[in-house]
Amino acid sequence: MPFAFPARHARPHAGARALLAALLLAATHAAAAPPTAPAVDSSGLPALSAVWAEQNPYRGNERAAEVGRQAFNQACASCHGADADGARAPAPDLRRLGRSCRRVTAPQWRQRCVEDVDYYFRKSVMQGKVKAGIEHMPPWEGVLSPELVWAIRTFVESRGRAPR
Ligand code: HEC
Repeated sequence: MPFAFPARHARPHAGARALLAALLLAATHAAAAPPTAPAVDSSGLPALSAVWAEQNPYRGNERAAEVGRQAFNQACASCHGADADGARAPAPDLRRLGRSCRRVTAPQWRQRCVEDVDYYFRKSVMQGKVKAGIEHMPPWEGVLSPELVWAIRTFVESRGRAPR
């Protein structure tokens, strides 16, 4: 007699297949859309050397925040929310990055903490995010200049804290 699953197993298997199909679709969709460089006027941004700075060299620079806002809204907003308002976005709210540093009171340790967050930010952006073979975020290496990466970081910081 051929083996047959009892009827009650039919639905969970169908559900698993649908989930797998959705994941594959998400993966192929992400792979099909390579990131494109945002078209922004970056005049007025101080030029940077080819070697990555230890920390955001534009921190607090208003021109950088404005260039960063435009770049962010073209390149990142579809996943992280318009104007980095990630509260209702599918990807993490980037205003939450570095919140742990605010609790560090000793200036030298706070500085180290901020540098770590800057490093994590640029590494995430350059390498993208791939988990279990699924691309959650594309890599921006070769697409975004260091100037634009730091300008975007400056913009995100200028947006203040996440609501909670
Ligand atoms: C296709 C959607 C998508 C786009 C476009 C995108 N991201 Fe992401 N990003 C994600 C997802 C999803 C995650 C969380 C991935 C994970 O943790 O596995 C993420 C994570 C990050 C992180 C790490 C956040 C954390 O809390 O750990 C940073 C930083 C980041 N993105 C910055 C950017 C910037 C800057 C841009 C634009 C240049 C951008 N992303 C564009 C989807 C996207």
